[in-house]
Amino acid sequence: MRRPLVCGNWKLNGSIGRTGELIDAVSSGAASLPGVDIAVCPVFVHLPVACERAAGTALAVGVQDVSDQVGGAFTGEVAAAMVAEIGARFAIVGHSERRARHGETDGGVAAKFMAARASGVTPILCVGETLSERDAGETLAVVTRQLDAVLEAAGVTGFGDGAIAYEPVWAIGTGRTATPEQAQEVHAALRGRLAEQDPALAARARVVYGGSMKGANAAELMAMPDIDGGLIGGASLDAEEFLAIARAAAAA
Ligand code: PGA
Repeated sequence: MRRPLVCGNWKLNGSIGRTGELIDAVSSGAASLPGVDIAVCPVFVHLPVACERAAGTALAVGVQDVSDQVGGAFTGEVAAAMVAEIGARFAIVGHSERRARHGETDGGVAAKFMAARASGVTPILCVGETLSERDAGETLAVVTRQLDAVLEAAGVTGFGDGAIAYEPVWAIGTGRTATPEQAQEVHAALRGRLAEQDPALAARARVVYGGSMKGANAAELMAMPDIDGGLIGGASLDAEEFLAIARAAAAA
């Protein structure tokens, strides 16, 4: 039985004050959900206040991206060791918004995945197809290619405690969620790909769903055998809505 992971991706939102309030509200709810890993990922500049407020609570803090470099002449980047030092435990890598807006490649994302792992930060690898790729019947080929880049670079040992987030691009921020069956098909394929490398890795790796997940649709998604939690955008900015998703994960 895999321990569910419910992670909020706050994207480019918040303020120092709002971060403190949201952390307090989510962490007090997380206290009664000991069976679920619950995390939130604020912007980098709010990481210190988020980690300070979450310290000693059941809520973990993560980041939305991380550099593939450890240090040096890389203007504007933030290294995994730096966020680990502040207290971040998770790092989202390869979010579709970064792949699309910042030209992140499968290989570059794999390097970020390994950089996070090297600093003891658990990477959450985002994979997912666009609507035109889905319509062309390419969904499984796309997500497999995205996962393979990490497996080839990191190997089974390097994958470690990494998680995967299946996020169909057409479902992100659109209010249009994948059906539980659509998501399960992809999650099962991703787990199958891991199993080809190492059955033990496939059995333990968490594959979470992202894309317009909310309190009202979380339970039916989490009921699927290969859906181990969620990566939540919009709904994670509302503590009650986010905690409703975490409760659905706990009950699944
Ligand atoms: P959404 O975003 O929940 O707002 O669709 C999910 C994500 O981008 O991680």
